[in-house]
Amino acid sequence: MSTMNFFVRIATPDDTDTVGAVLAASYPALLASHYDKDLLARVLPMITRANPRLLASNTFYVAQTRQGEIVGCGGWTPEHPGTGEVVKGVAHIRHFATHPLWTRKGVGRAIIARCRNDAAARGVVKLHCYATLAAENFYRAAGFTTVASADVLMGSSLPFPTLIMQLELS
Ligand SMILES: CC(C)(COP(=O)(O)OP(=O)(O)OC[C@H]1O[C@@H](n2cnc3c(N)ncnc32)[C@H](O)[C@@H]1OP(=O)(O)O)[C@@H](O)C(=O)NCCC(=O)NCCS
Repeated sequence: MSTMNFFVRIATPDDTDTVGAVLAASYPALLASHYDKDLLARVLPMITRANPRLLASNTFYVAQTRQGEIVGCGGWTPEHPGTGEVVKGVAHIRHFATHPLWTRKGVGRAIIARCRNDAAARGVVKLHCYATLAAENFYRAAGFTTVASADVLMGSSLPFPTLIMQLELS
């Protein structure tokens, strides 16, 4: 990690604006080639806001450069997104994004590694993820397998195609 020009730390509510800026830069640019334009226009306002509960969870992380710039985010929760259901040993990957100027530099990989580590230390044996179609290769490279396709209902009524992906932690 010492050769990287960023480091991963736990996010706090003070990161709300910078995490929001990463989401707002990342999602429109990186999802555009995988989703219908009209669908994206409706969904983006719902997914580019920093989630206060994640920022206060201590299991959400940011990648920060030595200059202090936030260039990526992501984390995990015991709660299933949406339903809040908790199943012992299972955790859910949440709100991963890398700034478009920082993709393919290992930012996402470093945050996933931190998630794996911290989740395993707390008894998690399986990570579950609703992956965007744009992120399948990223999660595969991290060892996840694609289990099924699933439409996530955005704003309770708008179907957004995702892939259910899972990783067993050993
Ligand atoms: C998915 C995402 C977070 C990956 O972030 P990243 O910091 O670029 O990922 P990394 O640099 O750590 O990539 C790790 C490995 O994943 C794979 N990978 C990452 N992005 C990829 C892509 N676009 N195409 C193919 N493989 C990819 C590669 O194997 C890569 O290793 P390599 O660069 O040495 O070949 C980023 O592309 C993103 O923000 N996407 C838009 C938002 C999104 O879909 N988030 C996921 C929500 S479920």
